[in-house]
Amino acid sequence: MAAFRPSPFRPTMPLRVSSQPQTLLKTPATRPKEEHAAGWSSLWNSDRSHFWDRGKPSPALQDLLSLYPEVVSTLPDGSGRRPRALVPGCGKGYDVVMLALHGYDTYGLDVSERAVGSARQYAASELRNPSAYNFRSTSTSNSSPGSASHGTATFLVGNFFEQEWEAHLAPEGEQKFDLIYDYTFLCALSPDMRRDWARRMSELLAPNGILVCLEFPLYKDPKLPGPPWGLKGVHWNLLAQGGDGLVSGDADSSTSEESTSETGLFERVLYLQPERTYEIGQGTDMLSVWKLR
Ligand SMILES: C[S@@+](CC[C@H](N)C(=O)[O-])C[C@H]1O[C@@H](n2cnc3c(N)ncnc32)[C@H](O)[C@@H]1O
Repeated sequence: MAAFRPSPFRPTMPLRVSSQPQTLLKTPATRPKEEHAAGWSSLWNSDRSHFWDRGKPSPALQDLLSLYPEVVSTLPDGSGRRPRALVPGCGKGYDVVMLALHGYDTYGLDVSERAVGSARQYAASELRNPSAYNFRSTSTSNSSPGSASHGTATFLVGNFFEQEWEAHLAPEGEQKFDLIYDYTFLCALSPDMRRDWARRMSELLAPNGILVCLEFPLYKDPKLPGPPWGLKGVHWNLLAQGGDGLVSGDADSSTSEESTSETGLFERVLYLQPERTYEIGQGTDMLSVWKLR
């Protein structure tokens, strides 16, 4: 049994860590890979979501949708359908709803029933009466890469690494996504699951689709225990180089990225430091966009 250490996720609510009672709990990090999903469900069931919940959708993702239409428009002209998006490890569903409000038929997937229950409640009220924080500005509130109308927000309970949940996607037989968004999902997984994460992403992405990663936390030493696990250099290693993502974070990523071969399944088509992101990642978060090679 290990002590639950809340501080690394830097909760949105102030926490007086020193005066906290020592909560003894097996975190996902201390469980074997097979029990990882159950570990996250137990965190939800014991009301720990404030350790990671940011309370609103990602400003960096909104800016990508509004400012980079050439990157996010992945449907051929005249396809006659809305783009489809997936947010694995969606938590309370803020980004799922925001993507739906930007014209995507969006699926939020989470292993926790409790998370999905909260997300469904949130979506029901937010889609009826959207908050301003869903839009970059009021003038762009209706802009979207594929459609001027809102898409749908559907939430599924399921394990990203298994396939059962795919049977609930509509239309039947359509398993691929035009956009997949990862924020604090990869960093929530134990490092030995990273290669499977990359493989699943490649299976679920449509041939012309984009995988969008808001890379966080990049300020944390990847050798320290998580979650969240420090991700400096991890995306590049996993996706571009086809590695196992078990990097030390010691090398200067710009140098190592140029000097090593790229044999991974993905190529990076955009890499930027977002002007707007959550406070906790301001100045360190990076946004990367990937396509299948
Ligand atoms: C750190 S939280 C982030 C939640 C959300 N992205 C956010 O920003 O609020 C990680 C989420 O991933 C979910 N999760 C962990 N492992 C999962 C798995 N194998 N399949 C689906 N969801 C998973 C957890 O239940 C949790 O909601």
